[in-house]
Amino acid sequence: MRAIYPGSFDPVTYGHLDIIGRSAQLADELIIGVLKNNAKSPLFSLEERVRMLEEVTKNYHNVKIEAFEGLLVDFAKRRKADAVIRGLRAVTDFESELQMAQTNHKLEESVETIFLTTRLEYSYLSSTIVKEVAAFGGDISQFVPEPVEQNIHEKMEERRRV
Ligand code: PNS
Repeated sequence: MRAIYPGSFDPVTYGHLDIIGRSAQLADELIIGVLKNNAKSPLFSLEERVRMLEEVTKNYHNVKIEAFEGLLVDFAKRRKADAVIRGLRAVTDFESELQMAQTNHKLEESVETIFLTTRLEYSYLSSTIVKEVAAFGGDISQFVPEPVEQNIHEKMEERRRV
């Protein structure tokens, strides 16, 4: 099975890594699809988000990182993916994830969505929360891997200087 795990990954957290590690065991090949999404005005550029993902997944032999633009189903079709993987943290994720999965299925019947439930210890975690804590000088070492933590601190420092 070839699966795509799509997202903004701004930046990748331990919650994402949990889903990546478990998906890499389920799938023969896992493509992490990083959305080039200017509308969301991300903290990190597309290249930075891709680079951080490459760094923190370098020990997985069947995982590769690719940027994509446009519809997820078109990317999935181009890559001949069998499934899209999404993580569900809590019931609050369910509504929008269901809507997204159903829309994708309507657009492209061959694309199935597989949901993995996030480990309880990461159920509160999001990239947004990490950025908020970091912006106010909080400790984010338990939320993101060390290279990502460094990058966030540098980015926050850059922003303070502007
Ligand atoms: O990490 P995120 O921001 O929750 O990921 C959302 C993502 C990238 C999976 C979603 O926004 C997406 O697939 N965008 C691509 C555009 C698209 O296909 N939209 C229709 C799906 S309803």
